[in-house]
Amino acid sequence: MNESTAPPGDPDATGVVYIVGTGPGDPELLTVRAARLLREADVVLYDNLVSAQVLELLPPAAERIYVGKRRNDHALGQADINRRMVELARQGRRVLRLKGGDPFVFGRGGEEMEYLVQAGIAYHVVPGITAATGVAAYAGIPLTHRGLASSVTFVTGHLRDGSMDLDWPMLAREGQTVVVYMGLLGLPVLCARLIEHGRDPATPVAIVQQGTTPAQRVLEGTLASLPDIVARAGLRAPTLIIVGEVVALRQRGGGEPSA
Ligand SMILES: C[S@@+](CC[C@H](N)C(=O)[O-])C[C@H]1O[C@@H](n2cnc3c(N)ncnc32)[C@H](O)[C@@H]1O
Repeated sequence: MNESTAPPGDPDATGVVYIVGTGPGDPELLTVRAARLLREADVVLYDNLVSAQVLELLPPAAERIYVGKRRNDHALGQADINRRMVELARQGRRVLRLKGGDPFVFGRGGEEMEYLVQAGIAYHVVPGITAATGVAAYAGIPLTHRGLASSVTFVTGHLRDGSMDLDWPMLAREGQTVVVYMGLLGLPVLCARLIEHGRDPATPVAIVQQGTTPAQRVLEGTLASLPDIVARAGLRAPTLIIVGEVVALRQRGGGEPSA
């Protein structure tokens, strides 16, 4: 394996950056490789989606740099994060860039990789379990199921000027599951557009708060009913929305996180 064995902080060594997906929260969902890199960490830049239990695996001496990324809380902007990674690597450090879920699924891992390539810094990308698969499993919802959903699409439900720029005719087709990241604020828009474009208002929908963690909470409804249910519920981010007939297969208990 082509991994740096340079001692931390050696000024003559060339540093390396690991862009590491840490999964949706439960530390048991880390890959073996991510867990090893965490235990051996020198300096770590982490987002708010990286769970406290995952950070507990770091050695006490590891330097921790919080870079934020909560809605309206960017402790460091993306350009600063890129610069910081390169700066640390040029000092010969072994940099762990920790991200929630998978770095290449709505994680801006691609941008960071491009920046590192341009700067001539060695890097590795370590995949993680993305929220869609981790959260669905712990909520007991299969994303595809013979006869109900033969495809699954991941989209971002981020609102821009009050609307979502999505391919509605495609998403409204029957026989598929749609998983929406960052969709809590836009839930009413999402449900209304899908109905407008022909999806049955009775289509089951689930929203999962803090999936795979002890604070996991699952609310179920339909395209017609879920926005009102959620408005009364006071959910906390992060949340993931799953739209499709598969939601009706939900089994409680199987994969739910243990407290
Ligand atoms: C910026 S995206 C990052 C996605 C991440 N790269 C991944 O692969 O899961 C953040 C969104 O992921 C979803 N998400 C991440 N972790 C989650 C969790 N534990 N429970 C529910 N949704 C989660 C939410 O929709 C959240 O707004």
